[in-house]
Amino acid sequence: MVGFYGMSDGDQFARVAGLEELPDRGFIQVAVGEYSVLLAKLDDGVYATENQCSHANSTLDDGRFRLGRITCPLHGLIFDFRTGQVMGGSLTMVGLRTFDTKVQEEQVYVRNEPNEPKFGIMKR
Ligand code: FES
Repeated sequence: MVGFYGMSDGDQFARVAGLEELPDRGFIQVAVGEYSVLLAKLDDGVYATENQCSHANSTLDDGRFRLGRITCPLHGLIFDFRTGQVMGGSLTMVGLRTFDTKVQEEQVYVRNEPNEPKFGIMKR
């Protein structure tokens, strides 16, 4: 069971991993309540996105992850992992849902509700 601790109602974070569990290149998959979430340590922090492409019914955990971007394995859309925004193509302009994260005492916490996806194409 994932433990939550609340800052206030509606602002709850779950501990999902130790910081040392995150690879230098790549991501891990964790559960946050009902959500499957991908978690990655980048050079400026830890980021989390929902493991669900915004275009169609594909998970992203088999996608290629490189330079802070993740590529959907089904149709090849590229998303910015930090913001979830689409980085090109014409399949959709709806980004991935991201989750707020925080690191305290070498432990990674993810907010239990996703942020609204960003809309539009992010310039590379
Ligand atoms: S399902 Fe991901 S790009 Fe189509």
